Amino acid sequence: MRRYRDFHRESIEQPDAFWRREAARVHWETPFDAVLDRSNPPFARWFTGGRTNLCFNAVDRHLASRAQQNALVYVSTETGIERRYTYADLHAEVNRMAAVMRSLGVKRGDRVLIYLPMIPEAVFAMLACARLGAIHSVVFGGFAAPSLAARIDDAKPMLLVSADAGARGGKVIDYAPLVDEAMSRAAHAPPHVLLIDRQLAPERLDAPYLVHYEPLREQFYDARIPCEWLESNEPSYILYTSGTTGKPKGVQRDVGGYAVALAASIDYIFEGRPGDTMFTASDIGWVVGHSYIIYAPLLAGMTTVMYEGTPIRPDGGIWWRLVEQHKINLMFTAPTAIRVLKKQDPALLHAADLSSLRTLFLAGEPLDEPTATWISDALGKPVVDNYWQTETGWPMLANQGGVEALPQKLGSPGVPCYGYDLVLRDEHTGEPCASGQKGVITLGYPLPPGCMQTVWGDDARFVRTYWESVPGQQVYSTFDWGMQDENGYVTILGRTDDVINVAGHRLGTREIEEAISSHAAVAEVAVVGVNDAVKGQAALAFVVLRDAAAAADPKAADKLATAIATTVDRQLGAIGRPARVHFVSMLPKTRSGKLLRRAIAALAEGREPGDLPTIEDASALQQIREAVNAAGERQGR
Ligand code: PRX
Repeated sequence: MRRYRDFHRESIEQPDAFWRREAARVHWETPFDAVLDRSNPPFARWFTGGRTNLCFNAVDRHLASRAQQNALVYVSTETGIERRYTYADLHAEVNRMAAVMRSLGVKRGDRVLIYLPMIPEAVFAMLACARLGAIHSVVFGGFAAPSLAARIDDAKPMLLVSADAGARGGKVIDYAPLVDEAMSRAAHAPPHVLLIDRQLAPERLDAPYLVHYEPLREQFYDARIPCEWLESNEPSYILYTSGTTGKPKGVQRDVGGYAVALAASIDYIFEGRPGDTMFTASDIGWVVGHSYIIYAPLLAGMTTVMYEGTPIRPDGGIWWRLVEQHKINLMFTAPTAIRVLKKQDPALLHAADLSSLRTLFLAGEPLDEPTATWISDALGKPVVDNYWQTETGWPMLANQGGVEALPQKLGSPGVPCYGYDLVLRDEHTGEPCASGQKGVITLGYPLPPGCMQTVWGDDARFVRTYWESVPGQQVYSTFDWGMQDENGYVTILGRTDDVINVAGHRLGTREIEEAISSHAAVAEVAVVGVNDAVKGQAALAFVVLRDAAAAADPKAADKLATAIATTVDRQLGAIGRPARVHFVSMLPKTRSGKLLRRAIAALAEGREPGDLPTIEDASALQQIREAVNAAGERQGR
């Protein structure tokens, strides 16, 4: 472990020297004056005074040596479309998109909201923003109109880029009603919606703000738009993520630090080389998509595979056939996908030639030992679990093969990555934990390059939320519980806050509660996450009705439960839909009126909640127990 330990120590004790070296991985149009400005903690500014551009580094820089190499391979099993773009093609498409955006008034510092399915134009749009110095904010296509509107109002974009439709599991999802509703709900709706017409939706959007991409693309077919040289700390993007409140936080990232961090991570953590092919099965709406479908592989001169579809359509062998067809070297997805594949015919896995594949990376939720062992044995390849967050942008914990290959410890994502001063701390005293003791995973100041700079438009929220939650210490809280062994390996033990993780999707229970509360029949609601064999966690809702008689007979109760769940689809998006809605006449609370969420979650998982001396009315616990048991019996458990 020597090399790893020295490497990590240097990154913490001599960050200037360490990151100065790593900064050589990217092109600086103007060299930086200083590696790190730590004059205003907890804010950190990396590579101050340096000027660079993410699009230049991801695309233009490769034209000299790999113009004819594939940059982007696009496969959709939803539409049957497959496209390949060399670096030269990608460069041309990004220039066209940038010219179109510019013609619609987009300039440096403006926000562009991207609400798109997994289509190549999403990549062009993100890179075009980077080229122009505009700030992209990608909103996951599964979010409903009110969620989209809330993000519009926070980011106040100059432009919204959208499509006629998304597609999932063979079903077309018409975006027109969603975009229309979001545009009319939002107080800060942009003047234009740029529409990528896939010709999937039966009805076409037809609103005054609508601009069609295709004719403009033709008009700007030969356009060449120069890259804006941005100061390293200008924002590159905003990505909204869920927290404890109902209002998602806009995670803001810089330009230079992000470029350096990703370029280094591809080498040290993913062991990717220029010319390699990487397939990250995620969505561009999530941070894994931003970092490892788009920016990191392109920064490194690799070929990235972008996939629209599920892992089991047309059958469970599709991903492995992609590995064979496209000679994929590195694969990255979430454990949920592997648990889904585990239920498929294993012969499908062995039908493909997987010789090109070196490693499978998994992140986003806990990787359970049986799943890790199953997939590693089935593939005959190493599986690397890695732990991080939207906020950090790249892994905090991993076995960093490019630094030193350490023995794998099943059930642990590994040891702290270089750059992260990761310490487990006692939740009450803030003191470092002894090995084997459960604590909150924290990071010391400064966060390394690539991590969030602030909450968009709300520095105070950044400080309050992340840097003031550990007693007596100004450290960054991940809001994850963990435990570290004597060799430094950390095990993740769940969130300390009200965030749950359903199929690798991060959701705030408050957001789901707010959506449910908008249903007229609901007086009060508590949403908790419970263990789920495939999705990791599932959301359960416990609802107190305004009029209990509305759910008096089982048929009426079922109907109402469905109606309430559907409200979540409409307000938040189907990803937030609770797996079950239970009716109770009272929720367990403390005498001061605080919901006893951990107690509810324990009961919902069939565990006893322990002593609750502050509970107002203990019979509320019995109601939760009974509701869960009754549902279990109905399902024949
Ligand atoms: O609770 C941790 C869990 O996912 C959260 C971050 O989710 P998100 O912001 O969507 O970013 C995902 C980036 C991969 C974390 O706070 N989490 C992430 N990776 C792991 C994990 N839990 C256990 N093991 C992991 N490898």
